[in-house]
Amino acid sequence: MLQQPAQHPAREGETYQALTEARRALVEEGKLLAKIYNEPAVFEMEKDNIFTKTWIFLAHETELPDPGDYVVRRIVGDSFIVSRDEHGEIHVLFNMCRHRGMQLCRVDSGNTSHFRCPYHGWTYRNTGKLNGAPFQKEAYGKDGLDKEEWAMTPAPAVGVYKGMIFASMNADVPPIEEYIGGMGWYLDFYLNKTPAGSEVIGAPQRWVLDADWKLAAENFFGDGYHTQSAHMSTIKAGIMRVKKAAYFKDGVQYKVGPHGGMFIPFKPGSFFNYPQDVVDGMRENLGADQFKVLEEDSILPLNATVFPNLSFLHSAMAVEPEGRSIPYLTIRLWQPLGPGKIEVWSWGVVEADAPEEFKEEAKRAYLTTFGASGTFEQDDAENWRSVTRVAAGEMADHHYLNYQMGLDHVEPIPDEEWPGPGTAYARNFADFAQQRFWRTYFEYLLGQ
Ligand code: FES
Ligand SMILES: [Fe+2]
Repeated sequence: MLQQPAQHPAREGETYQALTEARRALVEEGKLLAKIYNEPAVFEMEKDNIFTKTWIFLAHETELPDPGDYVVRRIVGDSFIVSRDEHGEIHVLFNMCRHRGMQLCRVDSGNTSHFRCPYHGWTYRNTGKLNGAPFQKEAYGKDGLDKEEWAMTPAPAVGVYKGMIFASMNADVPPIEEYIGGMGWYLDFYLNKTPAGSEVIGAPQRWVLDADWKLAAENFFGDGYHTQSAHMSTIKAGIMRVKKAAYFKDGVQYKVGPHGGMFIPFKPGSFFNYPQDVVDGMRENLGADQFKVLEEDSILPLNATVFPNLSFLHSAMAVEPEGRSIPYLTIRLWQPLGPGKIEVWSWGVVEADAPEEFKEEAKRAYLTTFGASGTFEQDDAENWRSVTRVAAGEMADHHYLNYQMGLDHVEPIPDEEWPGPGTAYARNFADFAQQRFWRTYFEYLLGQ
């Protein structure tokens, strides 16, 4: 099964039937077909039914602080220029000239009022408006080139959520606020803890990994279970200050709409080692119910995924042998390049109003653990690469993986006891959040 090299598999096709059975196995039996992690026909369906249907993260507004700033980003195979015009407005423009289709902007980022096509020289404003063509009168006559009609093509939908710029290939996608929904309550801890909000630290790091995007996305949904094994060397090296591996079972896993994540505990009263200025900012800016989670329950969101491929991490690590753990944030985008292949985009993030000295420390803590050379990143990447490699073979066509942890013996926290939206479980050794990821995935993939 699944051998069919289908570009657009019909509903009655072999691939569709196999995926329908895979979904049944997940929903009814809590097991996942291994082949899903490396299969060209599935990747084609993901492009058509997921990545062109929903919101995809492109950039953080703080990457474009000034008028004229731009970055070039992608939704799978489509390149977009994200620009800030002279009035401060954000535009997301398909990066293809309207004349003969040349890629207009071929650098990653910069500042400009205009984009001039390298091929024949058509020039566009950073709003997308066509400014003019060389020898316009001679070439097209006095009124022969309708500048309105031949402007750059904007992305079908653009949404900005708390500084995060998203676009969608689907003009009928629900508004970004609606799509994020209750997840916004959890994202505040990453993006909006203090009055000034968050800012990214420099340009994102990028690297290519022979791993399936879903392995990363579902890991960040709430794989509290892998840390005690995959990241054990970081405990031994003194980077992660944890006394017992069983620590990782404690916390809260949650699912909310198509999204999910998990919280971990910290030493009561320590506020995860944030400097006092940041703690004061959190008290001021977070809702009373959100701050209570930090102050009284002593837990905070560790990792989270906004479906499909945008993840967040909040952690605290020691960068000096005798030093304290330093909290930091990172945003990650699992950009699919093909079946079993991603480009990882990794941004360091910090509270914009934090003391400068802390920002420097947080940056070092982030770079030591995540990003291209990060210790945690290496641990995770090798596991994801290996799963992807094994999933390419024939045996994976009929090989099922266990997604049953906690399902039959852990109950949700009663709604009146959990302040956040969605459903939460007082346990991180569990597959509730991952189950939500996979059910959402199959709903999109199979169009149901
Ligand atoms: S392709 Fe851009 S000006 Fe001709
Ligand atoms: Fe990990």
